[in-house]
Amino acid sequence: MNNPPNHISFIMDGNGRWATARGLPRLAGHKAGVESLNKLVEELVKLQVPYASFYAFSTENWGRSAEEVSGLMALLEVYFTHELARLKAHNIRLRFLGDHTATSPLPQKVREIIQRADAETASNTGTVLLIAINYGGHDELLRATQRLADAGTKITTETLTAALDTAGIPNPDLLIRTSGEQRLSGFMPWQLAYTELYFTPTLWPDFTPAALHEALEWFTTRQRRFGKA
Ligand code: FPP
Repeated sequence: MNNPPNHISFIMDGNGRWATARGLPRLAGHKAGVESLNKLVEELVKLQVPYASFYAFSTENWGRSAEEVSGLMALLEVYFTHELARLKAHNIRLRFLGDHTATSPLPQKVREIIQRADAETASNTGTVLLIAINYGGHDELLRATQRLADAGTKITTETLTAALDTAGIPNPDLLIRTSGEQRLSGFMPWQLAYTELYFTPTLWPDFTPAALHEALEWFTTRQRRFGKA
């Protein structure tokens, strides 16, 4: 593809249903989801997509069973520990969206590995991967506006945009959500306002690079007018 979108967002949905359909525990679906993510990342790097964002864990996901939550936390920790060298070798810059402060419910180990992955890839110049962990769109807007209010800063499009977790990152051009659900579930409500939305019934563990190319083909047929005639 000659001209891929500048920023592609992914809501990686359907891991649980993928596992249930195979008589496996939900966590097996999340593990298969990580494999899918790995293949997608390789493809995005190959296509030289400048920015890609992934919804990995929402502020609402704490409401899942303790077993699933701790399993997901362990997956995140292992992923950003074991895959960091490979991601660095691809010249990937990692950034994280969401609340990762000491007062957040994230385990300290996950907070530490997030900080390390961010710091150790800070000077990389390739694809920027934005990973949303303990992220909620309302939460992000509340944190940003509160910070501006505390500093006595006038709220404008520019100051608010710069106070969001995505500061300095262009808005997504294309959002892909797998598993047939057609909603944003709190993912980047400010940033996705003019984004083209692509929904596919394919479950995330089955979403291959070929499926990404189908979505990119669809994207080329869209005429983006940004509200203008
Ligand atoms: C939604 O499927 C998926 C999640 C809540 C977690 C996504 C996480 C991963 C793919 C793995 C961890 C990520 C990284 C970056 C290492 P669901 O459980 O809601 O599926 P369902 O709707 O079929 O139940």
